[in-house]
Formats: sequence, C-alpha cells, structure tokens
Amino acid sequence: MNILLLGSGGREHAFAWKLTQSSRCTRLFIAPGNAGTSLCGTNVDLAVTDFDGIKQFCVEHNIGMVVVGPEEPLVKGIYDYFKNDPAIRHIPVIGPSKAGANLEGSKAFAKAFMQRHGIPSAAYKEFDAGNYEEGISYLQLHATPIVLKADGLAAGKGVIICQNHVEAMAEFELMIQQAKFGDASKKVVVEDFLSGIELSVFVLTDGENYVLLPEAKDYKRIDEGDKGLNTGGMGAISPVPFADETFMQKVISTIIDPTISGLKKEQIEYAGFIFFGIIKVNDEPCVIEYNCRMGDPETEAVLPRLKNDLVALFEATAGKRLHEIKLETDSRQTVTIVAVSGGYPGEYEKGLLIDGLDLVQEDDAIVFHAGTLQEDDKTVTNGGRVLAVTSFGNTLQKAVEKSKAILDIVQFDGMHFRSDIGYEFY
Ligand code: AMP
Ligand code: GLY
Repeated sequence: MNILLLGSGGREHAFAWKLTQSSRCTRLFIAPGNAGTSLCGTNVDLAVTDFDGIKQFCVEHNIGMVVVGPEEPLVKGIYDYFKNDPAIRHIPVIGPSKAGANLEGSKAFAKAFMQRHGIPSAAYKEFDAGNYEEGISYLQLHATPIVLKADGLAAGKGVIICQNHVEAMAEFELMIQQAKFGDASKKVVVEDFLSGIELSVFVLTDGENYVLLPEAKDYKRIDEGDKGLNTGGMGAISPVPFADETFMQKVISTIIDPTISGLKKEQIEYAGFIFFGIIKVNDEPCVIEYNCRMGDPETEAVLPRLKNDLVALFEATAGKRLHEIKLETDSRQTVTIVAVSGGYPGEYEKGLLIDGLDLVQEDDAIVFHAGTLQEDDKTVTNGGRVLAVTSFGNTLQKAVEKSKAILDIVQFDGMHFRSDIGYEFY
C-alpha cells in the first residue's frame, strides 16, 4: 500500500521511520516532511491544510491510507473532506472526524464533554464578549493561581496561568476584547489551577475499541530544572516511573473508558489517536487537556518502544478491528532529548549546518529530525526544535547518557538541549 503521511516535525519522522519498517508499506510519501523523513520516503511539497492538493496527490499516486500527524488538518476537517468525496471516500484517514478533533479544537467543547461523561477535570466556566462582565466578577472571586485558556487552537500558547487577580483580568481582557489569539480567544475557559505531576497517555481507537500505547512524560520548559519559557517540548521519557499499574487502572476506568464510550454515545466518529494530558493530583488522575493526535516529542520516545507493525495497527483502526490486536512493547526505557536552535522559543536563526549526522551508528539510538532541511548534500536547521535524539537504556540514566553522547557528535551553531530530562526520577 502507498501511504501519505502529513506533517513535518520530529513526530512525523518517527512515524515515517516506523511505517517504513512494515512490509505492508510499498511507498511512503510525506507532505511536507523534513530532511529526516526524506531518508524514509519521498517528501511532497504540499501544505497539510491544502485538502484539494492532497486529494489530487492521493488519486494520482494510488494512496491507500492517509496518516495525519498534526492537529490543524484534523480540526479543519480532513477526515470529513475525504469521507464526503466519492473519489477518495475509500481512502482511510487515520485521525478523528472534525467533531472528534473538537476535543482539541475547542477547550469549551472538551470541558463540556468531560462534564457530560463524568470525567475528572478542573472546575471551569466559559466566557466571551456576551458575558464578559460576569467573567470579571468570576475572576475577582476566584482563588489564585487562575488558569485562562483560549477556546480554540493557539499554536500551544493559549494557556495562561495567572498568579494574581490583576494579571488574570488583564489577560482576560486581552484575550476576549483585544483578540490576543485571534478568533481562538473570542471564548475563554477559566479553570481551577491543579497542582501535581503530569504525564501523557495515548490510545489508538477505532471508535469502538482502543489500544493503550506506552505512556510518556514530556519536559516543556526551555531550561534545566523546569525553568524558563514554555516550548513545544524539550524531551520525553517512556515509561514514566510513577505511572504504575494501580494509577494506570484509574486512568483507564475514570478517563479513557468514559471518553471512548462518550464519543460512541454521541456518535462522534473517531479513528485515530487520543492524547490525554493527565495530571496526578493526590494519587488521582485528572484531565488537563485532550489532543486529537500524538504528542511531540512524546512520539519519538513512544514509537521506538512499540513492537507491532504500525501499518497493520492503522489498518485495524480503519477496519474497526482493534479488539483483535495485542500491543507488544519493549520494556526498556527510552529517553528523547530535543536539540533546539539558539534563541528558541524566541527568535532564532535558520539554515545552519548540522554536523556529524553521518557519524551516528548506534543500534539503540535514533536521531529523529524535526526542523531540518536538506540542501543538496547538506542538512541544515529549519526550525526551533531541530533534532530529537532517542536512546534506549536499561535505566533512565543510561538512556540519558546515550542521547547526550550523541549530542556531542551531532551539532550545529548555537545548539541548546536539556541534559536533565527525567531528572525527577533518578
Ligand atoms: P495545554 O495547552 O492545555 O496543554 O496546557 C499547557 C500546560 O498548562 C499544561 O501542560 C499544564 O502544565 C498547564 N495547565 C493547563 N491547565 C492547567 C490547570 N488547570 N492547572 C494547572 N496547570 C494547568
Ligand atoms: N508535547 C505536547 C504536545 O505535543 O502537545
């Protein structure tokens, strides 16, 4: 089967790497891809939201499956676009319908969904220009810190944790009255602050059944010790030491099962990944957010641990046969360390030469590309997050050491990475 994978980050390189290990994958195309994905298949110069262009490409290249990496095409309805067009209806899209993607596309929808299905999450209220004054009064009486969330997609920047009322009211005004995040913040969810340790839990569902993938923990802050600005993610570990059997059973019974049955009850079509952003509050799991896709950099830590054929898994997802699948995972630890451009998450340079990529020849480590570009025979930086180095180890420490050793070999000017990924656990 020919497969088209949408996206261009480290997550997509990890998908491409795993998909091409399957004998069921004849040709892999990646739109738009990066220098790493071009080592696994053919990059195609198409934007992930160019649905007409994607359709034409699928027809011309006899594509048998579309795998969607990022949220934007899902929230914009790529699943429905395929389903409603007789020329491409037969091509399964791995990802939810637009209604399902709303779990990520609208925080207000996600909160109401959780409330309808009794899924544990922080108490909240939603506000827009229509009940703005009520919102101000609500904020004034609210305990601090206060969490403000833009309802729509805001490139990972739409959540603001305010330490005091003055800051909360100023942000609230900016979001609703000054369109701080454009249309995404016309509506704002105001949520109680939860204190605890976070982890990322993933399932692949066919709408009826699901398989639970290995969990992961990501490290979002730019500096060691979880200090500094928020980023797209500076590293990840899998498994997560505190996610023991008892805790994961609670996640399954109070969060995953009611989510899957809630989608089914509400007749929301869903054939793809659900990423549960979970926080552990006094031993009890609570949902911080849903995402309608895999995480990045979590995918780079999770997929290497998956022993199953990923194409077969996706075929079972499209065919509603996931109940027939048993996941097999590598019990070793993976650690992913992300190397970012100097200045990220602020301004940074692009086009810097990446040295040493051809020198990495480890069996138990993989250099995934994120923001990279192939220019003739040179690989150059092309984004904030540039590389994601995943290593296996029998212990967390060993895996960290291995990824760090690789980042001694692979380098570019101004490169920054966190050497303390997984620090709380050793
Ligand atoms: P999100 O974009 O929903 O993933 O939120 C970004 C980050 O904000 C999360 O990973 C949490 O660290 C934090 N966060 C979101 N909601 C809450 C909350 N209710 N209480 C505490 N932290 C939160
Ligand atoms: N690593 C978090 C995310 O992908 O949203």
